[in-house]
Order: sequence, then structure tokens, then C-alpha cells
Amino acid sequence: MLRFSFYSLLLILLATACTPAEENTSSVSITSPDGQLALSFQVNEEGVAAYELKRGETFVIPASGLGFSFQDAPALKKGWKINNAATSSKKESWEQPWGEQRMVENNYQEARIDIEETSPPMRKFVLVFRLYDDGLGFRYEFPEQENMGEVVITDEHTEFSLTGDPTCWWIPGDWDIYEHLYNQTKFSEIDALSKRDHPNLAQTYIPENAVNTPVTLKTEAGLYLSFHEANLTDYAGMTLRVNKKDNRFESALVAWADGAKVKQQTPFNTPWRTIQVAEKAGDLIESNIILNLNEPNVLKGDLSWIKPMKYAGIWWEMHLDKSSWDKASGKHGATTENAKRYIDFCAENNISGLLVEGWNTGWERWIGFPDREGVFDFVTPYDDYDLEEVVRYGKEKGVSIIMHHETSAAPRTYDQQLDTAYTLMENLGIHAVKTGYVGPIIPEGERHHGQWMVQHYRRVVEMGAKHQVAIDAHEPIKDTGIRRTYPNMMSREGLRGQEFNAWSSEGGNPTDHLTMVAFTRMLAGPIDYTPGIFNLMMEPYKPDNRVKHTLAHELALYVVIYSPLQMMADLPEHATGQPGMQWVRDVAVDWEQTKVLNGDPGDYVTIARQERGGNRWFIGAITDENPRALSIELDFLDKNKTYRLVVYQDGQDAHWETNPTAMEIEEREVRGGDILDLHLVAGGGAALMLVPM
Ligand code: NOJ
Ligand code: CA
Repeated sequence: MLRFSFYSLLLILLATACTPAEENTSSVSITSPDGQLALSFQVNEEGVAAYELKRGETFVIPASGLGFSFQDAPALKKGWKINNAATSSKKESWEQPWGEQRMVENNYQEARIDIEETSPPMRKFVLVFRLYDDGLGFRYEFPEQENMGEVVITDEHTEFSLTGDPTCWWIPGDWDIYEHLYNQTKFSEIDALSKRDHPNLAQTYIPENAVNTPVTLKTEAGLYLSFHEANLTDYAGMTLRVNKKDNRFESALVAWADGAKVKQQTPFNTPWRTIQVAEKAGDLIESNIILNLNEPNVLKGDLSWIKPMKYAGIWWEMHLDKSSWDKASGKHGATTENAKRYIDFCAENNISGLLVEGWNTGWERWIGFPDREGVFDFVTPYDDYDLEEVVRYGKEKGVSIIMHHETSAAPRTYDQQLDTAYTLMENLGIHAVKTGYVGPIIPEGERHHGQWMVQHYRRVVEMGAKHQVAIDAHEPIKDTGIRRTYPNMMSREGLRGQEFNAWSSEGGNPTDHLTMVAFTRMLAGPIDYTPGIFNLMMEPYKPDNRVKHTLAHELALYVVIYSPLQMMADLPEHATGQPGMQWVRDVAVDWEQTKVLNGDPGDYVTIARQERGGNRWFIGAITDENPRALSIELDFLDKNKTYRLVVYQDGQDAHWETNPTAMEIEEREVRGGDILDLHLVAGGGAALMLVPM
């Protein structure tokens, strides 16, 4: 035994230049590269394990348990011993093909702890902790072994203990949808069950008092935390149960229809459980932990077919009821003629993509119909839509078509046609598709966020990779950073998007919505929020609906809310002639670097991004229902340079409620290092472009 440990340690030392932790020990500790965070893991006399995370002398996460329950096998919660432990460190940087920034620093200390049960069935696994300056990731790795083959996990028992009663920004732990409004409450006041009755969701299932991730917290000591997961592969999505008695969150996995949580076979790994830690809320947005914990890009060869772009859509007109997806309605939106009108609009406005929804047959039996298997056809256009001619016309004008596949949550029907549908796109030179999963999953009982669907969503990404098609998923599985491994997984909804403003009976998205989203959902990855509404009052189509912030706020979203596929959502006739369209024409979609200049969840945020492959900077600032004066220092610009500044700001008498479209555009010169004063009105914002002279 001793000899075995000695040799295995030696091997690890040689292979990874790591430092062994004390042998035959019951605890292992590591510190973050900057020495600020400390992770320790202990196993007590009963073989019960716990990890804890500290920052200096302050507990970030007090002792928190780990473990699993299985079907037809004993639970794995006690009787553990540490067989071996090895620590190592890594410092590298890697390049993203597209993203919020080109280069990503990956710098951590790692502990790999080999655990074995002290009594039969003597199962083994490895706990891996990676500690970064900005937080912790850890996962369970189950190697192939004699006494553990096929497993059904009925519960994962990972805990996230809390100190005091932190403020939380949360959505309910819905197993079918993330399109809920964010709530700000104390941990002790989280009541997800009160969010069950919801008039505007086509699917929803909230079995217990739990939240979805990312969930953001502010501790009583003033630290900002976010809990999430990275690399969700062939496993169930994790919600976090609210255990008020023990003051902690606990993993609560989304189930299969038969009640199982995860069906696996060794060897397999769980996703990484992540805890981001920041002094300033904005540092949560700048953190790259989620991406770093994913595997490197597996797509080989030339990736130039994966194109960040602005896109318009035959889309908003359906949500406004001006037209319909369904041809039988008599007001079909996706006609050849209408598509050409939009292509002209795109070509005139530096918009390189056009999404066309409602182009294919099946829309007469989608939302609300219980039997939706075999209804949608992903290769057959309605007879008033000439797909090939639209693609050809687009090419002539430099506009590429974005395909649309609404599955109406019948994924088996989609799976059957997947290869054919993606081959059609490849043959037409279409390199992006927006998918959708509206409604309860068929077969009944499977959930959007369960392992069965996690597998489906991944098959789609892989099929996309095979046929050179990028994915923008609506009603998706949460983003856990797999865009690092599959850069064709570009964007997704997975939040309450712009569409709610057009039809929600609860009055659309509140004024502070996107100041919440920036510090919660956006920590997971790109968001297809679909900005670009100029006709904020939606006249004449929806006189009772509206957008609840100012036009300058709406324009700022192009920078604040990150997506490599960024929509210009309004109708051509609403946007044409608007002075703010110059901003839409100018703004970049792919970034060299990103800096969060200020902000607090639910209140305000300012983000600056430098365009990739260029020297222009773009800044977006948004505020909630409170007016705000923000001073921003242009210390990230070249100190010796003069820049032409163009500001799109709220008019002096603008107000989200009474005068949302009043906007002033100002141009002047500034120098690197200058201080800019921004005045945002209630619900207001500012959009800035800086061009070196
Ligand atoms: C829901 C999506 O979020 C929306 O963008 C789309 O228009 C409809 N489904 C129809 O597919
Ligand atoms: Ca949606």
C-alpha cells in the first residue's frame, strides 16, 4: 500500500510537476495564485467529507458537504478516506475564436484528491478542486472500476453553505424554463414556489423551493458571489435547493420522466460546480472561470464560417401580431417578397444576417397542441417562400440567411430530421440556425433541463459542427461555457427576452430587468436578448404594451448585453430614418477586450468593450428606474491619443415612463485618461463610441 502510494505520487510528480500534499492525511488545502482565497477539504473520523472556502480570515463558504445517492446501491456520503492527494498549478492563456475578449488567462492551483470507500463496495472517485483568484470550481470524477459500472444517480448532495443572510438575485428553479423575472431578496426570504402561477409561460415546472443558476449573492461582509456550473455534459442540470434550516443551498438535479436524476456509466465526470468571488460586482462579469473549466476547442480547421454578426429578422412583426408564422392565418410574414424587403434593409444598415421565422410548414399545429410529434418539417418551405431565391438574393446583397427551427419541444421529431435539415443548410451555404423549444417536452415528463434534453441539445451542437452551422438556441439548456469546446454554440436565450415586452400580460420587462440580467444570467455566457426596438410604445400594433426604458438605454444594450449574434429587432419601417440607427450601423459585435467600469445588480452598470481587429471602443451604460450621474475615467484608452467621441444620451426631459424616446446625439473630442460625466434619466442609458483620430 505504502509502496503503491509512493510510486503513484512519483508518477504524478513527473507528469505534472505537482507538489504532493501530506500523505495518509485527512485534509488537503490550496490557496489561489494571489494567495487571497483558501480552499480546504477534510474527511472526519466517520469518513464524512466537507470543503470550505475562505478569503483571508473570512469564511466565503463554511464547511459544506459532498456526496451522492444511487438507485440500487448504497449512498456515497460517508466512509471516505483519502488515498492520495496531489496539488499542482497552471498558468496559461488561450485565444478565443470570438468573444468578450480575445485572450483568456487561465491561472489556478489544483488539488486532485483520490477518495476510496473504507468498506464495500469500495468505490473510488477523484475530487478535483481548481482555485482561481476569482473563485473555485470543483467536480467529481468517477474512473472505470470493478464495483461501479452503470449507475443511476437519484441525488447529488453538494452543498453551498452560507454565512449570515446574504442578499440574493434569483429566479425560481424551474425545470423547464429560465424565462422568469429576477427577484432580489434575502436568502431567508427566497420563495420560489410563489412563482409557480405564471400566465405567460408555455412550459413551467417548479417542484420545490429552489433557484436556477447562475444565482448571485452579496454577503453581509460585502463580497459578491455567484454559484453556477461549468461543462454540463451528459448530466442533469443543477438547481439549488434553499435549505433555510441549515442556511445553505444544496444541489437539486432535474429529473428524468422516470424520476432518475442521472444515468451514467463509469468512467464519467460531473460538471464543475462553481463559486465566483468578487469584491466589486463588475468583477463577476469579467471572470472567466466558467470558460476556463471547459475543454479546449475541438473544432478543427478553418473556423471562419463561425461569424459574429448583427442580424435583423422577420420576427418582431409576429410578436407584434402584424403578421404570423402560420400561412393559414392569411397574414404570413415569411414571404419571398417580405424577405427581400428585409434584406434590402440589412444591406443599407451594415447588418449581415437575416433571420426568417415561419418559413417552413407545421406552424398551424405548434403552440398549445398536445400532439406535436411529426408536425414541423425542417426542409419544406411554405409555397409563398422561395428559400433558394431568398438565399440567392441575400448573397447578392451581402446578407446571409439565418435558418429557423422551432421544434415546439418535440425533440424526437427534430432528431429524426437533424442530418437532412443541416445538410440542406450546408448545401445552401447557411451557417447559422436559431432553434426553439416552446412548450412542455414530448415525451411527457422529460424536462428542458434534464439529462435527456442535455443530450439532445448537445447532439444539435455536434450536428451543427459537422455541417458548419452555428447555433442560437431559444428555450435552451443553460450556458455552462461549452462554447469554448464548440465555438459554433454561439448564443442563446435562456432568460426573459425582449419578446415579453410585446405580449406579456404582466406588462413586460420591468425597468431594472437588464441591470439584473447583467449580473446574473450574463455570468453564464452570451445572451440573445434581441435589442433594437425604436418604436418603444409599439404603436399602432400593441397600444397596451411597451418597452420600459429609454431609447438611449435600448441602444446601450448592444454593448452591455453580450452576444456574438446581436439582433436589430424592430421593423424596417420603424428603424429607417432614426438617428440612432447610425449607432446600430457602427457598433461592433466581436471584442478584443471588455472592462466593467461600474455597477451593482439591479441598479446600474457600465461596460466598455474594444472592437476586435480595430481600435474603436464602445461603451454602454444603463440604469434602473432611478436617475444616475456616473463619472467614468477613460484610463483604458491610449493616454497620448485624441478620440472622436459620439454619445447617444437621454434628452434632458427624457424619462422611461413619460418621454422614453427623447435622445441627444453629441460629438466631441476627448483624450485618453479624461473623465466623462454621464447623466442617465430614470430608466435611461448612454451609448458611446470612441474612434482614435
Ligand atoms: C420563442 C422564441 O423565444 C421566439 O424568439 C420565437 O419567435 C418563438 N419561440 C417562435 O419560434
Ligand atoms: Ca422564449
